[in-house]
Amino acid sequence: MIDILIIGSGGAGLSAALAAKEAGASVLVVGKMYPTNSQTSMAQGGINAALGNVEEDHVSLHIQDTVKSAHGLCDEDTVRHLCADAPETIAWLERLGVPFSRIEVPQDDPNQSPTRSIAQRKMGGASAKRACYAQDYTGLKILHTLYDTCLKEGISFLDEHFLLELIVPDDTVKGAVLLDIRSGELKQIDAKSVIIATGGYGAIYDGYTTNMYGATGDGIAAAMRAGAAVSDMEFVQFHPTALKHSAILVSESARGEGGYLVNSECERFVDELKPRDEVARAIFTQMQQGKEVYLDLRHLGEQKLMTLLPQEVALCKLHEDVDPAKDLIPIKPVAHYTMGGINVDYTMEVTGIKGCFAAGECANAKVHGANRLGGNSLLEITAFGRLAGENAYKHALYASNKPADDTLLQVSRAKIDALFETTPSVDFYIHKHDLGKLFYTYVGIVRDEAGLTKALEETVAMQVARKQMGIADKSRQNNQNLIEFLEFSNALLLAPAIISAAVARKESRGAHWRSDYPESDDTQFKKHIVLQWKKDQA
Ligand code: FUM
Repeated sequence: MIDILIIGSGGAGLSAALAAKEAGASVLVVGKMYPTNSQTSMAQGGINAALGNVEEDHVSLHIQDTVKSAHGLCDEDTVRHLCADAPETIAWLERLGVPFSRIEVPQDDPNQSPTRSIAQRKMGGASAKRACYAQDYTGLKILHTLYDTCLKEGISFLDEHFLLELIVPDDTVKGAVLLDIRSGELKQIDAKSVIIATGGYGAIYDGYTTNMYGATGDGIAAAMRAGAAVSDMEFVQFHPTALKHSAILVSESARGEGGYLVNSECERFVDELKPRDEVARAIFTQMQQGKEVYLDLRHLGEQKLMTLLPQEVALCKLHEDVDPAKDLIPIKPVAHYTMGGINVDYTMEVTGIKGCFAAGECANAKVHGANRLGGNSLLEITAFGRLAGENAYKHALYASNKPADDTLLQVSRAKIDALFETTPSVDFYIHKHDLGKLFYTYVGIVRDEAGLTKALEETVAMQVARKQMGIADKSRQNNQNLIEFLEFSNALLLAPAIISAAVARKESRGAHWRSDYPESDDTQFKKHIVLQWKKDQA
């Protein structure tokens, strides 16, 4: 039996794998796609650490900014841990070979050549230039470096394996049931500890998100079915600048490097470097007034754009047919990051399931609270991914190596077989898109009771209709229709949890903005909304 099964091969999963391997664990990483195809690459602008390479900064300021942006909903000890360790996290990434951009820092002695320190830029809500970056490919470069290192360390991977269920016979995890997408076979993988690192649920906003289609909260849904608690599900971050027609992300680093936001009257209407929740709302207000909103990078000039933001330039040309050096970039805010997730303690162990850990966007480690700061997600996945790896190994050292029986494998097989035996009368793809539109409209940047209630009713109706949905493609091998149906089913499980929490939070706080309760109410709501179902009843 392996020590640690890691489900999810993005930045958090790979960081966990490296830490666990270094501690001495046997590790297997499974992912539904390939390790370099992960949402980690969407964190383009940088990773925060108070290095003070470009201007004065201090860990205490990083803590202060993070706490302020969380609007009272973070665990301050965990935030302190994250921010205080951030310089060491960057040093670790640098040792692995992440090609951070550099700046020349002159020496006091003019005879000495300047040192080349890691370059840092300002992101929204930060009081200093704190985000270390690799042009505007930071997440991608980190991801590739982590994966290269995993391969060098001989870590085993099973790609294209979809998580069906966590095996939790009593209160302790024993492994997982997975679908091998290529062969269509179901497999039980036994493990002493499991780490869930499967990402967030931004893809519920189908058509209105920077996220890849697969960000459907599969790990969160499996954890819910297995009896885990989830928390802060109502907090969804809208990134202010996605391309208007494709929802492709234009990194916050574009504003960090001096880009402006202007409306159709060419007026600036907000401080572009406020936290994302405030900037997204300001854009939303302009759009409600019937105005278009644009990102203006023209004054930065082609050379600076190509040096610092080459990816953004390419994406704008390719997907919006505009050249940022010459044209205004039409933008809109869309869902980007989900602050809520599987409730974990400070060791990253999941509330309700022993030996099961979670890290990254699927987990709620209580550092982002009601609104995450740009540049803190890459920091969290790396630092807390490693922490999860270390603690999962500590659990594995004393865990039983008696595998679970194959009851859940058989139950899962029967459920999948049933999909092959029935003919769907309702097309789930239509509902998938409808769910996205419903969420963007009623569970979006500004919410109210009537809209949330409508969203809940329609979501419940979709859950009922799901019994008539299924797969039209009956191929056993490489069946994307099946995977997309399973993903949609997971999204449908999460959807009412998100809406119910949003209904219950009768106040405005960070990314959760209620037009019918526009003030924060610390007396009643300075707390996490935690939801938990009995095992197999989610
Ligand atoms: O805009 C961005 O580059 C996104 C960064 C992040 O989500 O941390």
